[in-house]
Amino acid sequence: MSEFCRIFQALGNLTLFFWTTLRTDCVIDCPQLVNLEINYCTTKTGKSIVTSNSGQIMVLAPKILNFSAVGIFPIKSGVFELENVKIQLSDITDVKTLAPTKKILYDLVTKMFTGLCGAKILSLDLKTIKALSALFEILVSSYSPFVNLKYVKVPHGFEESSMSTYLKWYLLGACSKATIVATLPQHKIVIRQGSWFEPLREAEGELAGLVSNPPYIPSEQISGLQAEVGKHEPRLALDGGEDGMGDLLHLCTGAASMLRPGGYFAFETNGEDQCKFLLNYMETKTKGVFYDLKVVSDFAGIQRFVTGFKVK
Ligand SMILES: C[S@@+](CC[C@H](N)C(=O)[O-])C[C@H]1O[C@@H](n2cnc3c(N)ncnc32)[C@H](O)[C@@H]1O
Repeated sequence: MSEFCRIFQALGNLTLFFWTTLRTDCVIDCPQLVNLEINYCTTKTGKSIVTSNSGQIMVLAPKILNFSAVGIFPIKSGVFELENVKIQLSDITDVKTLAPTKKILYDLVTKMFTGLCGAKILSLDLKTIKALSALFEILVSSYSPFVNLKYVKVPHGFEESSMSTYLKWYLLGACSKATIVATLPQHKIVIRQGSWFEPLREAEGELAGLVSNPPYIPSEQISGLQAEVGKHEPRLALDGGEDGMGDLLHLCTGAASMLRPGGYFAFETNGEDQCKFLLNYMETKTKGVFYDLKVVSDFAGIQRFVTGFKVK
């Protein structure tokens, strides 16, 4: 190692900027490090800043949880647990600036992803997805490096269907339960307070989704509930009326008018009987309004949720 970069041992957060080609290895030896950010600063001339014989960034940080990068870096890491990995190319004018050929880019991508293979959540921006998609001929015969992945987060508005099958396989292939999720537009989250649909009147027929865990315990069962439920929740949060169905039926009728065509709903119930009741209600009283109605079980195997879509 001709150049050696040892960073202050007590650092919890570290942001690094690389201005030139990474020709030799860089060791980040920070036992307390939790957040690491690495950025490439490209020149206006768009000159390639990485070549195939580049060095790599060695991350020795057993406590690291969050890693983010603007650029694709060859990473070597002894760390297997990582919560969040965020990769962006948005500030890099041209992917060729990063790597002059697909082969070199693929080499960098695999070295980086292998180093970050313990990530649980992988967030990619549009340019990164585009750059990875361009590697499809190589990805087709590659194994997925990610072993702990739960989600791949893509930008708001990006359709999962526009991601190539090869790329999906490459990212998710080693984790059967991992899925692709789109991030919410954070500036558009609005919190409304009020009883059920009352504060949402002007959104009638426009809601894309409706998820609720309403009060569903029949009134007479409230006193017999386990102490950790019955003694700490206000009665109003649990009591669903005589048969426990009052709020569920209200939500069901509301879903018929509030959801937009194709809109999705998922309601939690007290269990098997309430699921059956709700399903039957929807198939008869709101006949033709919903489709793909399903009863979904919880992790204890108890039929717990009713889900479906409003007809298009
Ligand atoms: C079973 S608790 C669920 C709490 C929480 N959502 C959860 O999933 O852990 C039912 C919740 O329904 C809400 N709720 C009860 N009546 C409501 C109403 N009329 N309008 C809106 N929310 C209501 C209360 O906030 C109450 O906490």
